[in-house]
Amino acid sequence: MRILLTGSSGRVGRNLLPDGLAARHQVTAFDWAPPPTRLDNVRYVAGSILDRKDLSDAMQGAEAVIHLAAIPYDIPPLHQVFNINVQGTYHALELAVEHGVRHFLHASSLMAYGFGRNAEAQYLPIDEDHPAASHDTYGVGKLLTESLCQAFTDKFGLRTLCFRLTHFTAFLRHYGDQFPYDDDSGIQGLHEYIESRDLVELLEAALASEKVLHDVFLASGPDSGHVLPTPEVIRKYHPKAELRYRNLEPESPFISMEKSRRLLGFTPSRSWREYGLTEEGLVNRPSSSE
Ligand SMILES: NC(=O)c1ccc[n+]([C@@H]2O[C@H](COP(=O)([O-])OP(=O)(O)OC[C@H]3O[C@@H](n4cnc5c(N)ncnc54)[C@H](O)[C@@H]3O)[C@@H](O)[C@H]2O)c1
Repeated sequence: MRILLTGSSGRVGRNLLPDGLAARHQVTAFDWAPPPTRLDNVRYVAGSILDRKDLSDAMQGAEAVIHLAAIPYDIPPLHQVFNINVQGTYHALELAVEHGVRHFLHASSLMAYGFGRNAEAQYLPIDEDHPAASHDTYGVGKLLTESLCQAFTDKFGLRTLCFRLTHFTAFLRHYGDQFPYDDDSGIQGLHEYIESRDLVELLEAALASEKVLHDVFLASGPDSGHVLPTPEVIRKYHPKAELRYRNLEPESPFISMEKSRRLLGFTPSRSWREYGLTEEGLVNRPSSSE
């Protein structure tokens, strides 16, 4: 499929490309920052999502947009976070309609829930029906863009599928994150993660599932991203949460991927546990020097 990938130079985009997206699709990679590495079969275009001409030129001929470009946290100045994340998404949606794009896949975030900030998990594992009540510019911005996506589907028939990513990571190359978790540091992402190849396959499942015109999906991995057993993590960090597990196992996830399984036919499979731990407690994947 002909895909425009915005935010392609960032941590998510630069990993999705070599993890299947570039090999299986004709990708135009769009970012205002240069790519850290260039793949032969990808067309790289420099520009801003706030510049409608840049974005429109890059979108020529696209059948799908995967929209990653954003400021990925509450990094001041917050009005710029809002402008890039919300206005930028509006431009991308509007131009997608103008260009006759069929599919718009939008990177939302688990931060929309406000966990570890102003909200606690009311039940576990959480699902897409759990209240999302972030008070932060970044989280509220993601909720607003999910609503924008719904409006563009209702008004113009553009397919818009939104994915609330938890902590993104990659196992096949160096990735500078503190993962897996051994304390409360991952609470905003509910101690979870999604591996790059799983995310590519989730997005591909979304492109193929034509019956879904608009919806919001969680994007998370097959098991807990915490080194401690799940019942212990719950006791320590979520003592008030109602437990809705069918079977609560030591590696049970904190996020349900049931909706993706049911509506998109996707089940995550890449677990950090297959890679073991180094002495530093990090996943044993290639280091930056390799
Ligand atoms: N990495 C995660 O764990 C995670 C978790 C939840 C959601 N997300 C979402 O996934 C998406 C990608 O996140 P990431 O971690 O790769 O972030 P990142 O900051 O590493 O990458 C974002 C990319 O967008 C580009 N960008 C920003 N503003 C732009 C503009 N005006 N025009 C063109 N390009 C612009 C940046 O140059 C950057 O390369 C974001 O929407 C983020 O909110 C990421």
